[in-house]
Amino acid sequence: MAAISLQRKLTVSAALGLLLVPGCHSVEQALPYAEAIQLSPDTLENLATQTVSVQVDHSTVSYRYPVLGESHPLTIEARTTMAERQTAFLEDLPDHGDPALEQDVELLAVSEHVLGIRITADSSGTRGEHSASSTLWYDTAGGEVLPWTALFEDEASVEAAHLEVAKVLQEGYQLSNEQLPGLVGEVHARAAEEEDSVSAGASPPAEEPSEAAGEAAESPEGNAAETGDADLRDPEQAWEAAERWAASPLADLAFSTAGGLAVRMDPADVPSAGRVSEVLLPVEPEETEPVLSELGYHARSAAVAGHTDPEDLAFDGTLTAKGSTLDCQRLKCVALTFDDGPGEHTEELLDTLGEYDAKATFYILGSLVSEFPEVVERTHAEGHEMGNHTWKHDDLTTLSADGVTKDLERTDKAIAEVTGQAPPTLRPPYGALNGDVRKATPHPIILWDVDTMDWQSRDTAAVAGHALDETVPGSVVLFHDIHKSSVDAIPAVLEGLHAQGYHFVTVSDLFGLDGMTAGEVHTDARVG
Ligand code: NI
Repeated sequence: MAAISLQRKLTVSAALGLLLVPGCHSVEQALPYAEAIQLSPDTLENLATQTVSVQVDHSTVSYRYPVLGESHPLTIEARTTMAERQTAFLEDLPDHGDPALEQDVELLAVSEHVLGIRITADSSGTRGEHSASSTLWYDTAGGEVLPWTALFEDEASVEAAHLEVAKVLQEGYQLSNEQLPGLVGEVHARAAEEEDSVSAGASPPAEEPSEAAGEAAESPEGNAAETGDADLRDPEQAWEAAERWAASPLADLAFSTAGGLAVRMDPADVPSAGRVSEVLLPVEPEETEPVLSELGYHARSAAVAGHTDPEDLAFDGTLTAKGSTLDCQRLKCVALTFDDGPGEHTEELLDTLGEYDAKATFYILGSLVSEFPEVVERTHAEGHEMGNHTWKHDDLTTLSADGVTKDLERTDKAIAEVTGQAPPTLRPPYGALNGDVRKATPHPIILWDVDTMDWQSRDTAAVAGHALDETVPGSVVLFHDIHKSSVDAIPAVLEGLHAQGYHFVTVSDLFGLDGMTAGEVHTDARVG
């Protein structure tokens, strides 16, 4: 504890000495404002980002997320948060105008201890313009992604920060008690009430619980944050608290150049601010310090120190977009699978998938790896998954147990030579299975629930029709990329499913590999 206190003191004096002084020239009557520390990810040389823009019919969605390394929790959380918003936007799309959703990321704090990002979401269309932003904090020590509440010592500190915001609004912006918006107003009213009852000393303690319960029941928001005593050092409780406080302006906080907080308010809630595009309220460093948790101190130190030393960073930005980027427990996901390749049309398919930031699974034949080495290499490099589809498409049930083992091993090895690891799953040719096959494979077995019958029809429109009509959340869709007619169907499949709010993932992401065991057969990950 002593070491932490010392560190806190040093940080504050550094912030005061270096950063507060230059800010003192502000005009006397100026409204109080904070300069938020937030930087474009472009300013970090070794941080890769993925930018995607998809235009379908009259709508456009675009997003950029940080790629922090293979299956990095912050990449998954950021990408999943954006994907959830995208699905909600597309599912509620007006049928005219040019609705657009643009999501981007900014950096709030970067150090070896913590990485703070802000996700911005701006939508426009016939329902007017709308902005919604939130922050995520990656704690290196615990390896976890945490919400803004984890920056605070406890829930009393969260309340205290709301009271500071109320104070700035009242003293700096001349808002009356009644004008204090949302949770800021609620916390302020609650505190005033408590103060009254303490100073009056009249209300018997027995009355308080029933009164409070009655108020909660009448509260129109229902989930309005009541004083809680969550342990915000516990990730689960921090997330629960963030849900209770979801409407708080602190959900979109940054640190200020002064070493305090910069709290973003909706300008509509602060009439005296005039016609401005944003209102950033300052919580002074001396009011900020007592409410921060250890993670909060790390985050503030990182923010005010700037993002200049890439050596210390909590990620390896040199890795490419491999591994999981989406949490399909929370999303409308579908796994598109392509069998029997690689082939001469596979690269065209990879181009199409790239346009939609879609990841797919390729059940390839071991014997073809050496025939299309560049295609296999590219498939892997672009974050798609390759699965074992045997060496040369033999029906495994016709082989001896030893023959099955040898065939699968040989194929695994050919794929591993390119990807560096054995393919995570097996799809037996023709879906043909018996006990020997299930016993011989070290992999989970993935079949499908949507069969496009593409090998039979060779009809692009029919193939797309099957996929669009039969896919449900959690589906595994079967195609064969060795047929031009199938590859030609994919633009329509991606377009149609995208418009329905689907996200395209590998089978590993769809099922979550941790939950699967060798020889187990899966056809889909439908819920319910
Ligand atoms: Ni096949």
